Amino acid sequence: MDQVEEVLSKVDIVELINERVPLKKAGRNFKANCPFHSEKTPSFVVSPERQIFKCFGCGQGGNAYKFLMDYEKMDFGEALRYLADRVGVKLKSYRPGPDEAKRRRLYEIHHLAAETYHFLLTKHQAGKQARKYLSDRGIKKETIEEFMLGYAPNKYEFISQFLVRKKDFSLEEAEASGLVFKNDRGSLTDRFRGRIMFPLTDNRGNIVGFSGRIITPQENTGKYINTPETVIYHKSQLLFGFTQAKEALRKTRQAVVVEGEFDMISPYQAGVKNIVAIKGSALTEEQIRLLGRYAEELVLALDADSAGDAAARRGIQLAVNEGLNVRVVSLGDKFKDPDEAARADPEFFKKQIKKAQSIFDFYITSALKRFDVATAWGKKKIADEVAPVLSGIEDEVLQSHYAQSLARKLEVDTQIIWEKIHQSGSKFVTQKDNQQAFRQEEKKNRRQVLADYLFALCFQENHHQELVDGSFKELVGNPGLARVIEALEEYLSDNKGQFDSREFVKKLPEELVALFNNFFVYPLPEKLVDPQAQNKEIAQIKKELELISFETARKKLSAQIRQAEEAGNEVRVEELSAQIDKIDQKIKQLY
Ligand code: CTP
Ligand code: MN
Repeated sequence: MDQVEEVLSKVDIVELINERVPLKKAGRNFKANCPFHSEKTPSFVVSPERQIFKCFGCGQGGNAYKFLMDYEKMDFGEALRYLADRVGVKLKSYRPGPDEAKRRRLYEIHHLAAETYHFLLTKHQAGKQARKYLSDRGIKKETIEEFMLGYAPNKYEFISQFLVRKKDFSLEEAEASGLVFKNDRGSLTDRFRGRIMFPLTDNRGNIVGFSGRIITPQENTGKYINTPETVIYHKSQLLFGFTQAKEALRKTRQAVVVEGEFDMISPYQAGVKNIVAIKGSALTEEQIRLLGRYAEELVLALDADSAGDAAARRGIQLAVNEGLNVRVVSLGDKFKDPDEAARADPEFFKKQIKKAQSIFDFYITSALKRFDVATAWGKKKIADEVAPVLSGIEDEVLQSHYAQSLARKLEVDTQIIWEKIHQSGSKFVTQKDNQQAFRQEEKKNRRQVLADYLFALCFQENHHQELVDGSFKELVGNPGLARVIEALEEYLSDNKGQFDSREFVKKLPEELVALFNNFFVYPLPEKLVDPQAQNKEIAQIKKELELISFETARKKLSAQIRQAEEAGNEVRVEELSAQIDKIDQKIKQLY
């Protein structure tokens, strides 16, 4: 057994997943709402026996490594190291693949660069002005340490020289990190110059990029610049401050979401620890899913337009339908942003968080501010804007509450609002996804459904011998399943009827393993626990499969008869008719 297998054999996937996605027992398996797509009824199944997970809604599935890669966005090597550490296996040598090796070098670059920038800010003469800038903005020493803030000097080749000359990174690696770029004359230039440096971390705490704020405003460059997309930096997945806020998110079950770096740091310093920043772009689905793992409530302290614009609405809609409560903080006219508010009046800021308004009330009040509700046209505009938002709410109580509220504000009949809501329909992906999954299920024919059920029942409830003895090989009408039965037959005779799924799977051809694993996650009816009842069920399935196979044969014969008749071949017609009669006899016997 190699180490990859050894680690896997020691890991308990149920425990691993349960720490991240709380699981409920369902027969021999465990269930939850799928963390990879939106759903209301759980189709995400974990099998302790096969040590796999599988979602019947979106199709995602695999072993413990795959789960960490999908859920934590680890690459294979990281997942291996994480699990080896967890079960106490010392890895001898693990050679990462080329992509992973590349990523690791980029993490290294960022780690070294962050340390260097941090050193310049905190210890070096070059960082003097930056130190003053931060202290003027009320940023404490401990905060600078905790966030590992830094300073990039106003030089064209500081970090590029450091990476390439002092450390042994290649020009390509330096460029791939995003910290430097090739200028018009083809030489490497630092992207960040004369800026306060904020390390940006991914959800596991790796530094994957930076944002830099200029300290002396300049004509032709932005106030902030950010690392461009790289193989490790994905803007849409990142939340500034997530690493620092994580524990508090878990404890308070609430996430305060703000716009910028200082908007995150100032309240954090003032004691609001459950806070993250989206860095001036719209809240994405990925960010919401990440927050949803820790928090039940999002409190948005964004610019009014950022919470209200179309891109943000989509994310917010998703959050609501995932069961998150979304509220919106108002800072009134007193303060420009959370940074100012938290510095000038931390108690006020905390109070406003407590008083935050529900997102739908916010949408309604926001529309009421922009259109004149006293006019017919104004009413129409408001309804046009708010109805589509309300149409996306899946929970009927919530939806009805806000429909009535809107009707009252507009002084129109509630029925009218409902009509608008239904007209605008729901155009959100979550529902489309479900329909698609449903349709795929529907397309499966009856024989396939029965076969899936039969194999699940036999493997999950130890009816292996019945599966072999039942002459199901032809009845299931699927060569893969027939081969599983053949392998099972051989295995049982070699092992005196004893079955062990871990041993058996080693005997299976590689291409049948995925099919085999599915038997263990297929949901069985909860009531079916009595072995005798199970045997009855197997007999019933057999009967139905036989019927299907007779009927298929019958259809084929009828078609042949028609052909023979057209060709005027009476002898053949006679022959075929006799065969049909035999089949009809058999069908009769089945009833
Ligand atoms: N931002 C950016 N690039 C820009 C401008 C802004 O990435 N050119 C991001 C930054 O994360 C910034 C946020 O958008 O913090 C909000 O921008 P803005 O409100 O203009 O700045 P403040 O957060 O108030 O920045 P500061 O307090 O440092 O002036
Ligand atoms: Mn600001």
